[in-house]
Amino acid sequence: MVKWFLSHLAIQQLTITTMKKILITGASGFVGSHLVEEALQRNLEVYAGIRKTSSREFLQDSRINFIELNFGDKDQMANLLKRKQFDYIIHNAGVVTAPKLADYWLVNRDYVKNFADAVIASGEMPEKFTFISSAAAYGPASEEDLTDFLKEEDVPNPINTYGKSKLEAERYLAQLPDFPYITIRPTGVYGPREKEIFVFFKLVNRNIEGYIGTRKQHLAFVYVKDLARVVLDATTSSFSQKSYFVSDGRYYAQWDLGKAAKRILNKKTLRFHVPIGLVRGVAWFMEQIGKGDGKYPTLNLEKVRILESVNWKCDIEPLKEDLNFQPQYDLEEGLEETLAWYRENGWL
Ligand SMILES: NC(=O)c1ccc[n+]([C@@H]2O[C@H](COP(=O)([O-])OP(=O)(O)OC[C@H]3O[C@@H](n4cnc5c(N)ncnc54)[C@H](OP(=O)(O)O)[C@@H]3O)[C@@H](O)[C@H]2O)c1
Repeated sequence: MVKWFLSHLAIQQLTITTMKKILITGASGFVGSHLVEEALQRNLEVYAGIRKTSSREFLQDSRINFIELNFGDKDQMANLLKRKQFDYIIHNAGVVTAPKLADYWLVNRDYVKNFADAVIASGEMPEKFTFISSAAAYGPASEEDLTDFLKEEDVPNPINTYGKSKLEAERYLAQLPDFPYITIRPTGVYGPREKEIFVFFKLVNRNIEGYIGTRKQHLAFVYVKDLARVVLDATTSSFSQKSYFVSDGRYYAQWDLGKAAKRILNKKTLRFHVPIGLVRGVAWFMEQIGKGDGKYPTLNLEKVRILESVNWKCDIEPLKEDLNFQPQYDLEEGLEETLAWYRENGWL
């Protein structure tokens, strides 16, 4: 009995001492909360990087440790990082839509630089620093040649401030000597808790199916659980100083979203197309009004540029080669789970 107890204790101690520590920033958000879940499943000691005001609605697991980082304060971060000695860091915090263009530069570029500088200043280099960038840092791919797709060796050509700010952050990390970064560039991410594409599903649920323009788009998506899996695979792998695009490897027309949602929700819809010229005109008008109070409107010319881009194909072969990435969900399968979640949680 005593022997059994001692060996049991030894195993427990071994588990405790070998548990690796991971910090995930932006943990309160859509992608971040799924990264936290994936990290917990892998028995990592998880630290959710949040701010005072962040919601903890999707961070209820009692194994989660919380840590407040101030990306504007390098010393505060360096001290914290020195104390905690993380094995892995996933820097996922970022702004996807911002009320001011300056916010993209501040959060998506300057805060990434500050955070990486703090990691170096702490003297505690993690095994990996994974940066969640976006396909928008490179794209879109060619509008004329629809066989074209985004790939690592392309010259990046971001068309909005969001993409430009992500690209500058990527470039900063890449030039830091011996910095163990991995850059992940997801395409459109969907799944439970997502709030932007959700607006479209909400309308479909009310029998309305609206599109901007009539030109067929070639869109790429990834289900958030596939993304979380491959981000953790990349983070814990031996690869570093590399960048990867992430999609489910398929391409979808914009109305494939509506088609799948209608089938799953069992809805018939009134389908309409708003002329792109009209949307552009409204966006321009909103921007002129916004200038008065220094705000950038939700519908703006940058957003229209993204909404009308037709080619978001990207290359996931490097992910397959290095990390054996095999997406487990296509759009139909992912949406089955997603829409079920929206319903179960009273969003639809
Ligand atoms: N969703 C997509 O389709 C998609 C596609 C490609 C790349 N990405 C990237 O994935 C990452 C997560 O995006 P998401 O869709 O999950 O967005 P989200 O739900 O809006 O989450 C953003 C997270 O970043 C945090 N954050 C924002 N500004 C911050 C600041 N100034 N200081 C500290 N934390 C801050 C937010 O914290 P609070 O909760 O406190 O606001 C939140 O936890 C972003 O870097 C985004 O660029 C997303």
